[in-house]
Order: sequence, then structure tokens, then C-alpha cells
Amino acid sequence: MASVTLRRLTKTFDAVAKPALHELSLDVRDGEFLVLLGPSGCGKTTALRCIAGLEVPTAGEILIGEREVTHLPPADRDVAMVFQNYALYPHLTARANIAFGLEVRGVAAPEIARRVRETAERLDLVELLDRMPGQLSGGQRQRVALGRAIVRAPLVFLFDEPLSNLDATLRTALRAELLGLHRTLGATIVYVTQDQVEAMTMGQRIAVLHEGRLRQLGTPAQVYQRPADVFVARFIGSPGMNVLPGHGRGMGEGGGVVDCGTLSVPVALEHYEGEIHLGVRPEHVTLCGADQGMGNAAVVVIEPLGAETLVHLSAGGLPLVARLPGLVELRAGDSVGVKLDRRHLHLFDVAGERLA
Ligand SMILES: Nc1ncnc2c1ncn2[C@@H]1O[C@H](COP(=O)(O)OP(=O)(O)O)[C@@H](O)[C@H]1O
Ligand SMILES: [Mg+2]
Repeated sequence: MASVTLRRLTKTFDAVAKPALHELSLDVRDGEFLVLLGPSGCGKTTALRCIAGLEVPTAGEILIGEREVTHLPPADRDVAMVFQNYALYPHLTARANIAFGLEVRGVAAPEIARRVRETAERLDLVELLDRMPGQLSGGQRQRVALGRAIVRAPLVFLFDEPLSNLDATLRTALRAELLGLHRTLGATIVYVTQDQVEAMTMGQRIAVLHEGRLRQLGTPAQVYQRPADVFVARFIGSPGMNVLPGHGRGMGEGGGVVDCGTLSVPVALEHYEGEIHLGVRPEHVTLCGADQGMGNAAVVVIEPLGAETLVHLSAGGLPLVARLPGLVELRAGDSVGVKLDRRHLHLFDVAGERLA
């Protein structure tokens, strides 16, 4: 296994457009499961393709272990990539698909047979080895694609949204399988997804990308509890963090107040006046009787989910979501008091950068 180091990696496809990747620096530790998370078009696939050697970066360096590989061809990098759309050879059996990479590398037949069998056992594919891809379900095809990567025992695995074409149940099952594989293989994995639940549940660390730039790198807890900016705050969590535009006043020693919509929220931030963004996660919003909280809000929509209820509110026109335990007796149009948990407030400047 090996670490992966990106140093100010930049990729520009089109001189006039914004770069797909902008000075991305990242250290993936030896044996780490690192998730690259971000919305469609933020540069995730481009980053993986650069690491795999399928794209030549415009600037910057890539190291695998101690070795600089920026301009080496894919075959000399010892990485395996698994794609969203399986990319199996349709005219080859599952067995031949898994064996293919070893055959082109000239591995001896008995060795290939042994490794294919071992991989098939690990992925529960033994019964399916003689089927063609067309005779396999989506989940089975993706396991064959995984098998094709694993059988080579590469230094680094690159996964590009491998579960996004699968239904929800299968996705959860394969998520657990992938984590198990990571444990038993001790592999270095760079895993790309747009799904923040996958990122939170699978990543040892998450790198959040937006418009080709790294916004935050941290453990799931760090990224959730202390997002670096408004983008990360909103992107992580389901629903994401509430971010309300407001106005800070009276912030001397010991803090002041942020007014947003109908709410006046005491904050600990000192010496700051003017426009500010107040962030609070839905689970840190509680409701009380009208006029008994930090301000009143109108109930707009209620989503009862069983174990919890999401209450969508309007605080003087500003949308605010509360996540309340269990089922609640509320109706659209009700007026309620709102309290925000003061220990869990986030403050961002108008550019979206974290203040506190
Ligand atoms: N071969 C290409 N030619 C031109 N533009 C590209 C090419 N590949 C990707 N891009 C652009 O680079 C940006 C990042 O794309 P991509 O890495 O595929 O994003 P993601 O995988 O996060 O959805 C997008 O704006 C995309 O349109
Ligand atoms: Mg992509």
C-alpha cells in the first residue's frame, strides 16, 4: 500500500473556462479511506483521473508513496480505478473480466486462476463467474468491477461514485462490504461521491471540493461540527445547516446579538458589527410557545418521518428547518416560538468564511 500526495494540482481543459481543479493539495495517508465529496462538476473525476494517469495535469505534482508519478502512464502507477458505470467487457464472462488485467500483465495462468478464485470468494461471486455481464444484476456487476480492481492488489484504489447506480438497499449493503474490504485489505482508497451520507459513514477523512477547490479536509465529525464555510455547512447534513443572513449588533466584550428575520439571537462573538450569516443545524433548533423564545416563526410544512419530524418554518421570510424527535402536534400556519442552542451556533462572514 502507499500514500497519495497531491501538490497544487491544477487541471484546465479549456483556457477560457475556470479550471476543473485549482491548486488541489491533499495527503492521503497509507491505508486511509479518504472520501472526495462535492456536487456534480466540482472536479472529483478529474482528480481521480489525474491520479490514475488518465489525464495530464496542467500544473502540480502527484506522488504515490515516495515516487513522483505526475507524467507516468497509467500502467506504471499501480492504481486500480472502479467507475460508476461498471465498465465491464460485455462479451467476456465475469471470470474473464476479473482476470483480464492480470492476463494483459502476463501473469501465469495458475496464478491467475488462484487469484480470481480468492477474489470471487471474498466478494461472494463464485457462483456467478461463468455468467456474462448482461446476466448479472447491477449490484453483481459492480461486485465484478470491484473484483477486477482487487485481484490486481494495487497500491491504491480509486473509486468514482461506484454505488450511485444502485438502489438504496443495495447501496447500503455494498457500503458495508466496501468498509469490510478496506479493513481486510488495509488498502489506500480514494473514494469519490456526491452523497454526503456515504462520505460521513465511510470516510476516515472527507475532502470537500467545490468548483475545483478544496474547501475543507477533516474527519466526518470535524466537517459536520465545524464546517469551514457556508458551502460545507449546507452541503453536509440532511437537511443541511440552516444559514440565515443577519445583522450583528452590540458585540462588545462577551458578545452581542444577531438579528435575522424575526429572531434575535445572543452570540458569543466579540467586536463584530454588520452583515453576518448565522448557522444552526436543524437538530439544534427547538420550538416553544409563541413569544417565549428568541422570536416567533410560522410553520410552513411538516415532514413526519416517524422517529423524527422536520418542521419547515419561516422566520419573517427566512427559511429555517427544525428537526424534532418523534411526531409533533403542529399544523401549517401555526405560530411558534423558536430557540437556537447557543452552544451550537456557527457564524460566517458575508463571503461565507467561518468566523466562529
Ligand atoms: N474532457 C473534458 N473536457 C472539457 N471539460 C471537462 C472535461 N472533463 C471534465 N470537464 C469539466 O471539468 C469540470 C469538472 O468535471 P468532473 O471532474 O467530471 O466533475 P465531477 O466528477 O465532480 O462531477 C466540469 O466543469 C467539467 O465540465
Ligand atoms: Mg464525476
